[in-house]
Amino acid sequence: MLNESVERLPICNLEDRALSPEPAVFVVFGATGDLAHRKIFPALYDLFAGGLLPEGLAIVGFARRPYADEAFRDEVKTSCAAFARRGSFSDKGWKRFAERIFYLRSDLDDPEGYRRLASVMAGTDEAMNAALGGRRLPSNALFYLAVGPAYFGSIAERLREAGLGTAEGAGPGEGWRRLVVEKPYGHDGASAKALTATLQGAFAEKDIYRIDHYLGKETVQNLLYLRFANAVFEPVWNRNHIESIDISVYETEGIGERGGYYDAAGAARDMMQNHLVQLMCLTTMEPPASLDPESIRDEKVKVLRSIDAYSPEEFLRRARRGQYARGSDGAGGTRRAYREESRVGPGSTTETFASLRLELDNWRFSGVPITLSTGKAFAERFSQIVIRFRRPPAALFAARCGDALASNELTIRIQPDEGVWLRFNAKVPGLAAIKPSELRFSYRQVADYLPEAYERLIADALAGDSTLFIRADESEYAWRVLDGLEKAWASADPEDSPERGGLILYPAGSPVPMSGALEAAAPRAAAASAATSATADPTAGA
Ligand code: BG6
Repeated sequence: MLNESVERLPICNLEDRALSPEPAVFVVFGATGDLAHRKIFPALYDLFAGGLLPEGLAIVGFARRPYADEAFRDEVKTSCAAFARRGSFSDKGWKRFAERIFYLRSDLDDPEGYRRLASVMAGTDEAMNAALGGRRLPSNALFYLAVGPAYFGSIAERLREAGLGTAEGAGPGEGWRRLVVEKPYGHDGASAKALTATLQGAFAEKDIYRIDHYLGKETVQNLLYLRFANAVFEPVWNRNHIESIDISVYETEGIGERGGYYDAAGAARDMMQNHLVQLMCLTTMEPPASLDPESIRDEKVKVLRSIDAYSPEEFLRRARRGQYARGSDGAGGTRRAYREESRVGPGSTTETFASLRLELDNWRFSGVPITLSTGKAFAERFSQIVIRFRRPPAALFAARCGDALASNELTIRIQPDEGVWLRFNAKVPGLAAIKPSELRFSYRQVADYLPEAYERLIADALAGDSTLFIRADESEYAWRVLDGLEKAWASADPEDSPERGGLILYPAGSPVPMSGALEAAAPRAAAASAATSATADPTAGA
């Protein structure tokens, strides 16, 4: 609860400036897959339960497995009951939602399936018309690619061939068409560029919505509000006052069953190229000229362009990579080593921890170290941005206390305990002494329900608001940084010292390293050979 006098202040509602979701046919490619069932259908149901889904919106599952509409609805129901979050799942609500769901069976690369989709959209497909019982489908279409990246380009192509793309503009009387693309968006800069060319051959760039689910998180959106809706932060948001910025995303889980994908990707491609880089852009960008999507995305691109092209040696000095060895699962059990995970080679040197210290070569942040770090199988799960401010001038208290005077820190806690914390110094009552204290704002105090990232992103895509999606050039510039890092690591010997690109083995369940400084007291790749255990404290020397 907030203080009553704060509660009484007016709310400035921006919703009316926003576009609102429009009726459409929401086509889910890969409709029987994990992503669709864990995230997309439950998010659609949550939007529906919150009254945020437009009347008339229809959902068409497009996938290879045979299903009748009813059987498919039952599967979707099971997923929504398990994963939907808004209030309790009700059978009554479900019935009204289920009426909107249809299934179209097709191989993902069979042109016939796309021709059928086009006739469904045109209202000339008899089976669909019978299923609709006199209702008509909306003329807009959103194509959601919840499939593996190998299919992104070919689905876009097939849609274009079936006349459902927008690269050549929409036909007379046709509604809008949008393409939502999941991650991973390319494996490196070249493949991302090639994918962009293929997608843009089928859809206009303004109709391509590249997902980074971090941008849909409430706390991440709050970054812009915090910075630009307040007068206290922005005057100190620069190199004169900020000493360093740490952006960290740590997880307790290992890679689970995703070895096939992960072993070819690694932590830097999986998390840094997208989520961490996006957090950095929102934290450091200049105020946009307005709140429209292009102004905001222009500013993010400027941040990415201000990162120097480091030499491989410089990248290695600035980066660390690590991999979890056998250790604890954080729940009293043991976790196997990364190299023992399924579909991971026994000698894999793929990193499950990555950190990189960057500096922006721009007026505002020149010389301020920004550390991006991320890892799996650590002792804690959290995502946060810590802005550390410079100490007060060396007079008065600072002169007396030296390093014992803590710096002010602003922590933007993205998850799990979403909020904003400000660390400041205060007098110890009864003593002439100073102790760090903290002001804590928690989202849970002011809202019972924080929408899932996918709810926001789906609603925005249906509204044609691309602010929270990645533009082609953003992805390109982010890859430029990552390509440099990957190239440096590829040329380094995993058995070398950490500052020369060596791979640090850390025991699963290790404490999260401070400022991404995972240092190797632990045995490195070779020393551990096939083994898999590392016993030393991975943070020693950090
Ligand atoms: C995904 C990564 O993009 O983000 C996963 O592929 C990772 O490896 C996940 O676990 C983390 O997302 P969140 O929202 O749980 O922090």
